[in-house]
Amino acid sequence: MAELEAPHQSRLYSDLAPLYDKTFAKFFYARERTVIKDLDIPKGAEILEVGVGTGASFPAYPRGCHVVGIDQAPLMLAQAREKIAKNGWRHLEVMEMDALNLDFADNAFDYVTAFHVVTVVPDPIRMMAEMRRVCRPGGTICVVNHFTTESRFWGPITKSLDPITRRLGWSTDLKLKPFLKDTGFTGCRAYRFSRFSLYTVVVGTNEKE
Ligand SMILES: C[S@@+](CC[C@H](N)C(=O)[O-])C[C@H]1O[C@@H](n2cnc3c(N)ncnc32)[C@H](O)[C@@H]1O
Repeated sequence: MAELEAPHQSRLYSDLAPLYDKTFAKFFYARERTVIKDLDIPKGAEILEVGVGTGASFPAYPRGCHVVGIDQAPLMLAQAREKIAKNGWRHLEVMEMDALNLDFADNAFDYVTAFHVVTVVPDPIRMMAEMRRVCRPGGTICVVNHFTTESRFWGPITKSLDPITRRLGWSTDLKLKPFLKDTGFTGCRAYRFSRFSLYTVVVGTNEKE
């Protein structure tokens, strides 16, 4: 049997990047804006956004903070850079980087966010470990993503869609509870905006030993 394509290999994040803002980003922004507002980020905060893509979230960050966005897809980043230049945003910058090997020192950021990324990268557990490493002790980690439902009816149906969604650019085979257990990020809060929402917000303090 042919091996399943990894979600991050989807053309969506490379040569189809110009379509992204006209499609996915339109659905994602309202949620990102609410989540970022709820973080109540103070002036002077250092923030890392992992898998920043085209910078859909950018307008939501307060200007008094400094945000670094990283992503592996150069064409997504090109659009993010265009937005930064067009709006004259001096508090934002982007870099090409692998979320699984962050090129930052330990404890470098006050906040580390990732919106709609954990089911795209090849190893979500490693990505969270990297996010926690570069976030200072007592800093905030915030992830927004779709997780496979625990429902005995819908769970297998969602999971069966995985080979299709992988080709589009994301996996539907990641459950929240095992994800949190495997990442050790267990003291966090996980909630959805409504019981019908497909997306879960996971937010918590980065406890370090
Ligand atoms: C669904 S998009 C989300 C983009 C943005 N966060 C948003 O909400 O619009 C997923 C992003 O993850 C990026 N990505 C996938 N694998 C990655 C990796 N290993 N390192 C960094 N970025 C990665 C893709 O290039 C893409 O821009």
